[in-house]
Amino acid sequence: MVISINIIALRLLDGLIALKEKTLSMVLSCRMFTMNYPLLIEHIIREAKLYRKYLHMLEENGTVGIESMREIECFWNRIMMEHAMFIRGLLDPAEAELIQSADKFAEDYSALLKSCQTAQDKALTAESRAETLKFRDFKTAGTKGIESCKIRSLILPLLADHVLREANHFIRILDR
Ligand SMILES: [Fe+2]
Repeated sequence: MVISINIIALRLLDGLIALKEKTLSMVLSCRMFTMNYPLLIEHIIREAKLYRKYLHMLEENGTVGIESMREIECFWNRIMMEHAMFIRGLLDPAEAELIQSADKFAEDYSALLKSCQTAQDKALTAESRAETLKFRDFKTAGTKGIESCKIRSLILPLLADHVLREANHFIRILDR
């Protein structure tokens, strides 16, 4: 039963990734226009590929292999950095304070990502965790502000919820 669900999920993921890759290539060659940033399309492809990798591992070994914590941390620090950039780019230009905070988070995560990539096998869990707790609070406040119509932006409530859920997911991984 679980196996057949995984197989269906893998087939759907392959289709989703192919569709997003085609969309990205058409957008980048100006044969298509969408209101989504190309980086957002790349971001979704990155996340879908990670999910596909885990499903493959489950299908082949019955378990998800443990990658090095450093790799996982690098992956999620990049995802968090991109979230900060999307939030920044989708806020109304009048939301100066929020834009500043989002820029600061993007900068912090960019630094964390750099040290993560050069840290050999050492993970930087404590720093990533502290930053992500702050970012989670920022996203929580942002989601509430968007839902209650107090923040000016082009951010869909569902996107706000997505970025918040992923911050919680990253914190859960770092707490393990
Ligand atoms: Fe995401």
